[in-house]
Amino acid sequence: MSRLLYLDEVDSTNTYLKIRQASLPHGTVVCAARQTAGRGRYNRTWVSQEGGLYFSVLLKPPYNPFLPNLTQLMALCICQALEQFNLAPAVKWPNDVQVNNQKISGILSEAVFDKDTFQAVVLGVGINVCQDGLNNVGQPATSLQLLGVNVSRETLLSNVLQFFWQGYPALCEKGFETIRTAYLKRFAALGKQITVRDGDKTILGTAQDISPRGTLLVRSAQSLKEIYMGDVQL
Ligand code: BTN
Repeated sequence: MSRLLYLDEVDSTNTYLKIRQASLPHGTVVCAARQTAGRGRYNRTWVSQEGGLYFSVLLKPPYNPFLPNLTQLMALCICQALEQFNLAPAVKWPNDVQVNNQKISGILSEAVFDKDTFQAVVLGVGINVCQDGLNNVGQPATSLQLLGVNVSRETLLSNVLQFFWQGYPALCEKGFETIRTAYLKRFAALGKQITVRDGDKTILGTAQDISPRGTLLVRSAQSLKEIYMGDVQL
């Protein structure tokens, strides 16, 4: 399914695909050994020295209401790939992956429009494999190497993509419901007290459920709130 491009160095694999998306087919994957300007959610920097897995997937589905759920599918697929090494990863809604409460992977999804017309989604993934310097990333982080797993980035990439392409057609057709049970199984915050931050808004409450469309339902003293985006802290 994937046409794979390997680069030694690039500013950001997401930027690479966004700039070239018009001339590249659906399913193109670009993977880089290091990024000089790796980007995370909320305009954060994604530190990308050699040793990590950095890749982006170019997706050109028809515009549909389930595009925001693609990151959740990818988070689930990363969990499934890590489980093959006897790890017990958890998703931190919407799309971080943690092991032992430490971040091991993040996903950045960016939609591309030409004027007002939807063109593509670029789904970028960083997985900590064996790079140094995880103390400087601004939050508790771990890597496969620190967890005692020795796997090549090529094998890991191929395993994640295999799960992703298996789940992709159903997700595009029917949405989050197709992965809800599997996702909930790996949602560690379920039933726990959480804080959700989105810009300057903060919501405190219990993580009650993930709705059939993938939004987070948080029960606070006053009400049940449906959250569409944010950073969850336990
Ligand atoms: C996050 O957790 O904030 C998302 C991090 C996403 C990082 C990946 S690495 C490959 C791709 N290229 C980028 O510049 N960012 C994504």
